[in-house]
Amino acid sequence: MAFNLKDDKRLAELIEAEENRQRDHLDMVASQSIAPRAILEVSGSCLSNRTIEGYPGRRYYAGGIYLDEIETLAIERAKALFGAEHVNVQPHCGTNTNLAVYQAVLEPGDTVLSMDMSSGGHLSHGHKRNIASRLYRFVHYGVRKDDELIDMEQLRDMAMIHRPKLIVGGGSSYPREIDWKAFREIADESGAMLLADVAHTAGLIAAGIHVNPVPFCDFVTFSLYKTLPGPRGGCILCREKYAKEIDLAIFPGHQGSMITSLVAAKAACFAIAATKEFKVLAGRIVDDARALASGLTRRGLRTVTGGTDSHIVLLDLRNLNITGKEGEGLLESSGITVNRNGIPFDPLQPWIASGVRIGTTVAAMRGMGPSEMETVAALISRALSGENVSEETAELCRRFPSSVL
Ligand SMILES: Cc1ncc(COP(=O)(O)O)c(C=O)c1O
Repeated sequence: MAFNLKDDKRLAELIEAEENRQRDHLDMVASQSIAPRAILEVSGSCLSNRTIEGYPGRRYYAGGIYLDEIETLAIERAKALFGAEHVNVQPHCGTNTNLAVYQAVLEPGDTVLSMDMSSGGHLSHGHKRNIASRLYRFVHYGVRKDDELIDMEQLRDMAMIHRPKLIVGGGSSYPREIDWKAFREIADESGAMLLADVAHTAGLIAAGIHVNPVPFCDFVTFSLYKTLPGPRGGCILCREKYAKEIDLAIFPGHQGSMITSLVAAKAACFAIAATKEFKVLAGRIVDDARALASGLTRRGLRTVTGGTDSHIVLLDLRNLNITGKEGEGLLESSGITVNRNGIPFDPLQPWIASGVRIGTTVAAMRGMGPSEMETVAALISRALSGENVSEETAELCRRFPSSVL
């Protein structure tokens, strides 16, 4: 018997409901994009049937002739897009990219200097529950109190005092562009290797809107579904001298077989990211975020750092006397999806948090531009004051039903 999704009524209904939700709601979760049809097709192709381990030309299974070519295509496209010496396209997620870098070059007990969570660092940068902090000693730099930008003086002081083996830059909710040249200078002065975790901004880098960290860093890691229009999964770029250790750290260090269909979808994503259409879109993502931040500011809301250089607007809700959790709920009832998020020096725990993180990637992919962001700023502001604006949100969404890619 052939099993079709329509035979599994409950699951089919749930997927259809989610499809409708994505169309009728305004998704502003900053760690999301919309996978173009080609990505969905490749992700669900016959490649899903294949299990294979190892790397092109060095497989532990037979029958890899086409899979070798597909993986090589993904690697070559990523090399060309980012100007990298070596690429690993097998990581199942962004977290694994960072864990693999740690495993490749650190010994248990080694010191890593990374951004603290409340300044925008990621769980894989040393959260106490993450496996990395059981293995390595993490110390943190943060942002300055006055302007909420990375405190480069503190970073340098910490690097000189702790002499970390690795410095990690990048984060989950830092809205500003990072100065990788300045990071490199501090890494060189303190004798550390440098990892740029650009999970969030890889699409902006691919489009040439943010400076490419590759020339300044030993390792660059990212996931493909935040500002890149790709499938779930991660990618590591590194200098050739680390290639062998990085590859071994992914397989067999962290993973077994690769997700063949997603590796192919990564190849498709890199091709899409190299197009003129994607460059235009990436520009709109940032223009939208700037327009949104300024619209929110004009309505008396406080954005962390006073604005943004990326797709992220981090909103501090303390002057509205609501928590991030409450803000997330109010926006959700109005059809706007975001996530609660800590702000620098947040007095509340991450589960409650004082802010919400808002991303413009999905809206820009639907074709919304800065003038729509003016409308969105008004909707967000009204929703956060307790008004239900779901009808107006739905009306806006109806005007932009699908992705432009
Ligand atoms: C800076 C940063 N690094 C790594 C990751 C991990 O990505 P994943 O959720 O794919 O493991 C994220 C995810 O949000 C992130 O923001």
